Amino acid sequence: MTTNILVIPGDGIGPEIVSQAVRVIEHLRDAASLDVNLEYADLGGAAYDKTGHSLPDSTLSMAKACDAILFGAAGGPKWDNLPRSERPETALLRLRRELDLFANLRPAILFPSLASSSSLKDEIVAGLNILIIRELTGGIYFGEPRGVETLDSGRRRGINTLIYHDDEVIRIAHVAFNIARQRGNRVCSIDKANVLETTEFWREVVTEVGTEYPDVELTHMLVDNAAMQLVRDPKQFDVIVTTNMFGDILSDISAMLTGSIGMLPSASLDNNQKGLYEPVHGTAPDIAGEDKANPMAMILSLAMLLRYTMKEDNLADLVEQSVESVIERGLRTPDIYFAGAEEVGTERMGTEVLSELKQRLN
Ligand code: NAD
Ligand code: IPM
Ligand code: MN
Repeated sequence: MTTNILVIPGDGIGPEIVSQAVRVIEHLRDAASLDVNLEYADLGGAAYDKTGHSLPDSTLSMAKACDAILFGAAGGPKWDNLPRSERPETALLRLRRELDLFANLRPAILFPSLASSSSLKDEIVAGLNILIIRELTGGIYFGEPRGVETLDSGRRRGINTLIYHDDEVIRIAHVAFNIARQRGNRVCSIDKANVLETTEFWREVVTEVGTEYPDVELTHMLVDNAAMQLVRDPKQFDVIVTTNMFGDILSDISAMLTGSIGMLPSASLDNNQKGLYEPVHGTAPDIAGEDKANPMAMILSLAMLLRYTMKEDNLADLVEQSVESVIERGLRTPDIYFAGAEEVGTERMGTEVLSELKQRLN
């Protein structure tokens, strides 16, 4: 059966990196008979500039109809002053929510040859392989009431609400325990149970779900300590499961453990293998349009698409091996450059991944 993939380049470096991933998937289609059909749509600033809406109805309906979405990133200074409802970031959040993509997997795996690109000492990160599972459609990102208001007294206030329902915690906990069974059998749930009732409740519900997985070790950690432990000794973790906002923050930290945020992919999944695949990083406006962006996070997100939506584990492995091999050969975009390496741009990095892939497919 054909897998329909909706490609959404987005803003900033989005189009540059997405086109490298598209080269890879098109090659798999043409040379390895992968049964995929690619369609394109706009979202974010690019969509706003064309249509006046950051999430056009046509994009939303195509996103609902497809099997998987390959997405670059959205946002940038040009659109920062739009009303919040039209901001690029709001479009992305709506998309995640409308498609019920509640399970955001953010694996932080260190390729051995990138150990010295990490801001931590080699021995702290060597062999790192952790998975952050971030709840993506609830929590403070979506809680009501929200907004900024002026009281009768003239005092102004901003409000966001941290709210989790038991079913939201239960389903993300199941995802974490099930994935842990395929890895190191350990889950660390991260919260702020000492201060926030909502996350004390989160801890209680995760613990209840954990009783169904006696073979998986469950621990809990407060988020401030977790941030510290991630840079002190990240290898103590296997699977981390946490709330929407804590997961957002901790995954950027773990990106740096792997050498660069330009290396970290993600998958946002619903309960039926549908997924939105995007790098953890944003639109990098500071380097957009200069052929400097690292496309590896994007290409590795495509590998996650192959693995999770298409169940093409072998092809996913080949793409990941191709990326690793290019890195091992010493080719580097500026974000992971070190003296003596060969500095290359986005396009060239894509070309090299493709040629590694071609060799592996033969
Ligand atoms: P960012 O991740 O875009 O950039 C942070 C730093 O990392 C920058 O110095 C950038 O150059 C660098 N960087 C990021 N990706 C890189 C890559 N692939 N290769 C090399 N260097 C890379 O974060 P930011 O600057 O805080 O946000 C910029 C914009 O992106 C904002 O509008 C933000 O809302 C948006 N954003 C979007 C997403 C998304 O669409 N999923 C995620 C995060 C941020
Ligand atoms: C991410 C981003 C988004 C988030 C923004 C752009 C809405 O930072 O995917 O990590 O906060 O979820
Ligand atoms: Mn983020």
